Amino acid sequence: MSYYPYAERFPVNRRMPESGRSPEEIAAELRGIADEENGYWEGGQVSGSMYCGDHEHYAFLTDVFGMFAHENALQRDIVPSATRFEGEIIAMTLDMLHGEAVTDSEPCGLITSGGTGSIMHAMLAYRELARQTKGDRRFNVIKPETAHPAFSKSCHLFDIDVRIAPVDPETTQVDVAAVADLIDDDTIAIIGSACNYGYGTVDPMPELSALAVERGVGLHVDGCLGGFILPWGQELGYDIPLFDFRLPGVTSISADTHKYGYALKGSSVVLFRSKELRNSQYFFMPEWTGGKYCSPSVDGSRSVGLMAATWASMVKNGRGGYMNYAREIFSTADKMKAAIASHPELRIMGNPTFCFSFTSDELDIYLVNDSMKTKGWRFNGQQYPDSIHMAVTRPQTQPGVAERFTDDLAEAVQYAKDHAGQAAESGAVYGSVPGGFTSEAEEFINMIMADMMDHHMALPD
Ligand SMILES: Cc1ncc(COP(=O)(O)O)c(C=O)c1O
Repeated sequence: MSYYPYAERFPVNRRMPESGRSPEEIAAELRGIADEENGYWEGGQVSGSMYCGDHEHYAFLTDVFGMFAHENALQRDIVPSATRFEGEIIAMTLDMLHGEAVTDSEPCGLITSGGTGSIMHAMLAYRELARQTKGDRRFNVIKPETAHPAFSKSCHLFDIDVRIAPVDPETTQVDVAAVADLIDDDTIAIIGSACNYGYGTVDPMPELSALAVERGVGLHVDGCLGGFILPWGQELGYDIPLFDFRLPGVTSISADTHKYGYALKGSSVVLFRSKELRNSQYFFMPEWTGGKYCSPSVDGSRSVGLMAATWASMVKNGRGGYMNYAREIFSTADKMKAAIASHPELRIMGNPTFCFSFTSDELDIYLVNDSMKTKGWRFNGQQYPDSIHMAVTRPQTQPGVAERFTDDLAEAVQYAKDHAGQAAESGAVYGSVPGGFTSEAEEFINMIMADMMDHHMALPD
């Protein structure tokens, strides 16, 4: 693990190069790196992250991206395509998440840069609407302990208090009575995940919706991970509760096109039940000498390329395409969960579908992970309790991958039994480390965090 992973093969640019390099040479260098990095996940052994994995699809999206990448979505007079892409992406997402059920207001949305961006815009909208209607004071939101850190980050940025509601350790769903107890006059929204990242479980949405209506607060549904796959699972007959606009208390939903929408990284949708809520966070500065300024979201200039590629992914797949991929993903997840369930020492947490976690009351689960890691598997490590997280994506639906998981897991369970009492190498770190979660990885994260504290990234000598 290094700040300079390619320093041995390529020069590190410590300064702006005096003269430029040829595009051919640059492309050859980067092609090699990209091919090598693709090798990490192409075999289907990496959890989440590469939701699509189809290089032909990526090439198509990249082509579309290139047609519009240089255009700025702020300049709608010369890029009317942005208005089309944005409007149709939002309309299609509303269709998937049953915006037609909203009859008391006009549902709408925003395109953002990712799940965190969508959650940030929702939290900002609740705060701004509350300020406009209740006055400028400190507000709070209530999130399940399992909700993504992006909620805490948003509240940190926008000066909103976060109240954490516990989850039932058996079901991993939020305790609705605890949410009810935490609501007060300053609560602007409660949160539920469909599904949460950690366990892949869906919070009790009908109950949260009823509570939101009864207490007059917003309900944000975090569908960043599940928003573009759970609707197809519902249609396929999987046991997935309602979580969308068919529930009257749902006032906003985040759904990431850059995950199971199979778009390029850097795109997501946040939907709102009413324009009043969405528009509350619009920014206007009519008096500026540079001209009247207004923007619909935190970003200023945005590339039309990502919108075009997102739109293209959606219309290329259509309902039929998304449904077929979901069918394969759900059935692969079923096979993997059956493999886990065949080991009495392992326990799946809650009642998840395409994304799941498993732990053990008898074995050190990180020893299981250590062994899986040596066989090329890359799961995310979790804590409280220690568990292994797996989000099934299209690369896992390739022939033989679920079978390999089954065989490797059996050996990993045996390894954990044989090495009981030995310290595991794996640990619990969200997201970012190729090859697994090792103490070395934790050290690396600590190093980055220390550097961030110093507000600089050191350059090598
Ligand atoms: C449930 C959930 N919400 C929010 C996010 C944040 O999304 P992003 O990483 O795109 O900002 C994630 C990311 O995995 C997620 O799983």
